[in-house]
Parts: sequence; C-alpha cells; structure tokens
Amino acid sequence: MARTLGGSANPRTPIIGGNWKMHTDLATACQLASEVRNRTGALRSVEVVVFPPFPLLHPVAERLRESRVAVGAQDLHPAPKGAFTSAVSASMLTSVGAQWVLVGHSERRQVFGDNDAAVAEKLRVALNAGLRPVLCIGETLQEREAGRTFEVLARQLDTALQQLTAPALASLVLADEPVWAIGTGKVATPAQAQEAHAYIRQHVAGSHGQAFASAVRIQYGGSVKGDNAAGLLQQPDIDGALVGGASLDAEDFAAICRARAGG
Ligand code: 13P
Repeated sequence: MARTLGGSANPRTPIIGGNWKMHTDLATACQLASEVRNRTGALRSVEVVVFPPFPLLHPVAERLRESRVAVGAQDLHPAPKGAFTSAVSASMLTSVGAQWVLVGHSERRQVFGDNDAAVAEKLRVALNAGLRPVLCIGETLQEREAGRTFEVLARQLDTALQQLTAPALASLVLADEPVWAIGTGKVATPAQAQEAHAYIRQHVAGSHGQAFASAVRIQYGGSVKGDNAAGLLQQPDIDGALVGGASLDAEDFAAICRARAGG
C-alpha cells in the first residue's frame, strides 16, 4: 500500500531489525540466522537486519552471506584501538561483516551509562567507518508521565545529530524505543507511536531540513510481536520495527517482516 507524505508517495523502504541482545550462542545463533534467511529471503519490499552479540557476528555474517538479510552490531567503542579492555572498535566490526550498528540503545544508556555525549561520539565514529547507524532514542515511563516525552526526544536527537550535516547522515536510521515498552509486553498504541514519530520527523526537519526528514526512516521498538506489528507499521511515520524478544523466534520475526511487506 503506497503511503503518502505531504501528498507525494512515501519512498522509504521499511526496515525491520532483530536485536538479539545477550541471547543465543554459536549453535543457536547460526540456526536462527539460517531460519531468518529462509523465512524472509523472498520478501522484496522490506529490509531486514539482525544484530547478534559480538562473538557471533562473524559466524552469523557467514551464514547470511549472499542473502538479503544484513548483519549489525549492538554497540561500538569510539576509539580506533588501544587499551580499552572488553571494547570493540568500528574497524573490528566491519572486518567481521557488520554493516550496521546500534547506537544509544536504552540498555546501553541505562545499564552501561552511555550519556548523550558518548552516543554522539559513537554515531560520528560509526558514520566515518562506513557503518550504517541505528540511533535509538526514547523516554522512560517517569518522563512520559511527567509530560516530558517530546523534550527528551528532542534532547537525544539534538545532542547526537547537531555536529553532523544531512549528507553525512544519509545512511542514518532512527529507532524510537520508549523505555517503558521495552521487554515489558506494554507496546505503545499505534496512535502513541505515530504521535512520537511525527514529532521526531518534524524535529529533524527543523534541524536538518525537510528533505532529510522526509527520507529518514524511523523504526518503532518496544514489545513488537507478530500479532501487534501490522497496526504499528501501517502508521504513516513508522517505517519499520526494532524487535527484541520476538526476534529470537524466527517465525515471529518473519511474521513482523511480512506484516510490513504486505504478506
Ligand atoms: P523488546 O522487543 O523485547 O521489547 O525489545 C525492544 C528492543 O529493545 C529492541 O532494541
């Protein structure tokens, strides 16, 4: 179904990401990758990316070689190399087949203390390395209940994007992930998500221009499942989903991809 934006056809290809978080191991990751490839490989109108844990990037990328499913990492360290025990650089990621990287996921922000400045630096480094970034933003329950949702989204967008021009951000995908909806089973209603996405698009139009805002894809993340995806993905400003728990089940993940691909 063609969607319209300001009267013209929406040119944004939907993108569905599977964030495997700290799940799977070598055997189960390879099996999941093969199942995702088999179940989504025929879908032409949707882009599919999986984000395995670091040690599984290379074997998963090997499994998905020559397929339509791309591979991304869940984080990166901004330094090119050095004495940063446990950290992983952008060039390490590209060398093992990662094409995408999540930046600023709420679990990085909340559990590992990534602040807005760190997120901005990671975004800049990812882009310089040729990695396609998915910048994750989203408000907590407390912030939403205090009526601060738009203020938080604006701050997270501005601090991450302000040093970067629209052309430099051509490969960027945004992911709106309300923290209260992540892993809780409490999915935002299509209307709630659409309201936030419309705000995000309007805000980046102000900072980076209308052409950029019309082209940038905005995923929704937070308890997306096969049975609630269609209502979300029909919204005019929702261009895909970033899926946690349901991405560990190849059939549920494929159902989400099909919901946007139109069957
Ligand atoms: P859930 O789909 O498990 O709520 O996780 C969403 C998420 O954090 C994707 O990055």
